Amino acid sequence: MKNNIRNENIPQVKVVGISGSLRPESFTRRAVEIALEGAAKMGADTRLLDLREYDLPFSSGNPRERNYPADVFRLREDIRSAAGVILGSPEYHGGLSGVLKNALDLMGFKEFEGKLIGLIGVSGGVMGASNALVSLRNIGRALHAWVIPEQVSIPQAWRKFNQDGTIQDEALLGKLMQVGQQVAHYSALHTLDQEQGFVREWESEPENPGGARRAETA
Ligand SMILES: Cc1cc2nc3c(=O)[nH]c(=O)nc-3n(C[C@H](O)[C@H](O)[C@H](O)COP(=O)(O)O)c2cc1C
Repeated sequence: MKNNIRNENIPQVKVVGISGSLRPESFTRRAVEIALEGAAKMGADTRLLDLREYDLPFSSGNPRERNYPADVFRLREDIRSAAGVILGSPEYHGGLSGVLKNALDLMGFKEFEGKLIGLIGVSGGVMGASNALVSLRNIGRALHAWVIPEQVSIPQAWRKFNQDGTIQDEALLGKLMQVGQQVAHYSALHTLDQEQGFVREWESEPENPGGARRAETA
């Protein structure tokens, strides 16, 4: 996938973000906000869906459940209206947070099929949030969404964020912005009747960090 993405002659799309942490000073929420800034830079209409502002019950397991609070239907509508979604989760006990999983379990294909998804994981420990990210990638597949290959894992988040929620590490900042930019770019392409262009860019030869080209020429 290309890094020098541009948004010429493609429509404005809506990109929303969800953080799987309800903590007031959540690093995950801040990371999702930064990715949304990246999406906004590409011309997307962006919004953070703050799960603290939704009264969500546990999923009953019945997708046609009518007795849910109105906020379940509000959340579904907010996701349905978006072309791209950025999902952020803290690493909790080697997985994604229950808050985010439950929010996703309250939704389904109607909300996510064909949507572009970008992933961000945040952890307190040195190992990063790879388990949360792997689970979220599987969930995206199960929901028939397009999960972009790039993702960001932030280990030891408490060392990466300043008091005011800013990040000094330029490389990390760039990666978070890039997730948002790519979700905006590819969801915009996907909304066009240009599937061929979408697939061509999606599958265009990425740089191989393993040095396949070197092996070819050896
Ligand atoms: C219930 C719980 C489980 C956690 N499990 C892990 C874990 O398995 N690995 C890890 O590195 N950090 C773990 N942490 C630390 C969080 O990932 C870390 O505090 C992160 O910053 C939380 O995200 P937030 O800042 O968005 O709230 C856990 C924290 C909680 C509250």
